[in-house]
Amino acid sequence: MEYDVIILAAGKGERTELGYNKMLYTLNDKRILDYACLPFLEDEECMQVIIVSNDVHQESFNHYKILVVAGGESRQESAYKGGQYALSPYVLVHDGARPNLSKKIIQRVKLALKEQEDCVVPIIQEDLQDGSYRMADKTIQTPQGFLLLSFLKAHEAARDDLQKPRFKDDASLVHHYLFIPSYYVEGDRSNFKITTATDLKRFVDSKNSAH
Ligand code: CTP
Ligand code: MG
Repeated sequence: MEYDVIILAAGKGERTELGYNKMLYTLNDKRILDYACLPFLEDEECMQVIIVSNDVHQESFNHYKILVVAGGESRQESAYKGGQYALSPYVLVHDGARPNLSKKIIQRVKLALKEQEDCVVPIIQEDLQDGSYRMADKTIQTPQGFLLLSFLKAHEAARDDLQKPRFKDDASLVHHYLFIPSYYVEGDRSNFKITTATDLKRFVDSKNSAH
């Protein structure tokens, strides 16, 4: 199956308190953004890596799959803008701030899309104190996968919505406007999002211990 991926990197990264966008933080000669793109560049079913960013330029990459486009004021708007450049029948949307993505998660998302699921979300089920799991106690991750037509239709509806609600992820938006339920696949604790300085340190430690 052919798909495009939108890598969201147009935030400000304020909560990491670096003084610049966390996407540009560099470790072992690679930016966080580069780490986030890597598993997709290596996947031959991925046709296009659409990076949504106002901080990097097309020339700073040397790969035929990469297209850099401008971002918006919110994550939602950045996702919409990226979607305008998608050409494949399916689209995955990934937070650039999740640089530890395993290929296994990408495979699970793709498999579900192939099995006719329109909206696929990796999750971690939170372990409750009594050792049981409940779907309500889940942590949503990216990459989330969509049929491109559904993704675009839902984002158009959001733009037309006078109430202008903001969704923190694309699956919630697609569910809200198109009533398409999310299909959950297993995420992974190492696929955490770098939000705070503590998360950044966790990322650095994870890379150093891998050496
Ligand atoms: N993002 C984006 N466009 C925006 C805001 C966020 O593409 N206008 C991206 C970020 O670059 C990040 C992802 O969405 O990869 C998740 O957002 P978040 O972790 O909140 O990153 P920032 O918005 O950059 O961080 P902060 O909220 O601390 O400023
Ligand atoms: Mg943010």
